[in-house]
Amino acid sequence: KVFDVVVVGSCMTDLVSQAPRLPKAGETIHGHKFFIGFGGKGANQCIQAARLGVKTAMVCKVGKDFFGDNYIQNFKDNGVHTEFVKQSSDAATGAASITVDDAGENAIVIVAGANMLLGAEELQEALPAISHTKVLVCQLEISPQTSLQAMCMARDNKVKTIFNPAPAIPDLDPDFYRVSDVFCCNESEAELLTGTSVASVEEAHRAGQELLKRGCGSVIVTLGPQGCVVLKGGESTLKHVPAPVVTAVDTTGAGDSFIGALAFYMANHPHMPLEEMARRANLVAGVSVQDIGTQTSFPYRRDLPNEYFQE
Ligand code: RIB
Ligand code: NA
Repeated sequence: KVFDVVVVGSCMTDLVSQAPRLPKAGETIHGHKFFIGFGGKGANQCIQAARLGVKTAMVCKVGKDFFGDNYIQNFKDNGVHTEFVKQSSDAATGAASITVDDAGENAIVIVAGANMLLGAEELQEALPAISHTKVLVCQLEISPQTSLQAMCMARDNKVKTIFNPAPAIPDLDPDFYRVSDVFCCNESEAELLTGTSVASVEEAHRAGQELLKRGCGSVIVTLGPQGCVVLKGGESTLKHVPAPVVTAVDTTGAGDSFIGALAFYMANHPHMPLEEMARRANLVAGVSVQDIGTQTSFPYRRDLPNEYFQE
């Protein structure tokens, strides 16, 4: 295989304000810090996988603007292959307006911009990468049809797929389930997709069973500080993987750190049990929540204990 992990997905410039709490509708509040960072769920996941030491490529679209130019440099700085990172003058680079409160919780508005212009033509160009990778990862910050097509292309070439239905949409095309080897969502996405409450490990397990029935190979429902539940097709035992106890300062992108790490393990340790991959991905994501920012807080292989990388 030419690549270990290929991500077909989004790039966003994160405009982050830290404030004591999230503002209410119509309200203005004082924040204490503002910064700009590299974000977008697809790019975040790709960069986390790259930092753990696998060969990655990103398939995405940014604007022909300052933010787009900067983003391409960011991929290069992180060792991500950029041949399939396209620039368009028809839309601006995607942007995310993020507020982070003192508890490390966030609220995000994204304007996808150029991300929505990634389509069939770009996927065709990237087919050599999509068909020659160990793992393909997709999310929902680009056109859902583009994500689905990429997943189908991977499947046709026996490439393992991870699908992260984020941000979740209520009318998700049912084919997404059938083309997902691992379907990985958080509690609020699981709620939206199943129409049931997902606040506890038991509820997550029940929602996971429902998602599994829709045709995915395996399901992971992440639960923030409660870790995650892992369900495999054909097995009915509850597998709860607890998360390390940490003090969160900024949880933005923690789910992306988890998925990037999961993709890393699926590519590099394909025979490891999925719950062990999830346990280690929790540890990686646990590091990311202890620092501010999204990619700025994602650990490199050299920052992590050696045992995270042993069989
Ligand atoms: O998952 C976190 C990401 O969501 C942020 O980086 C922001 O860009 C939004 O896409
Ligand atoms: Na963080």
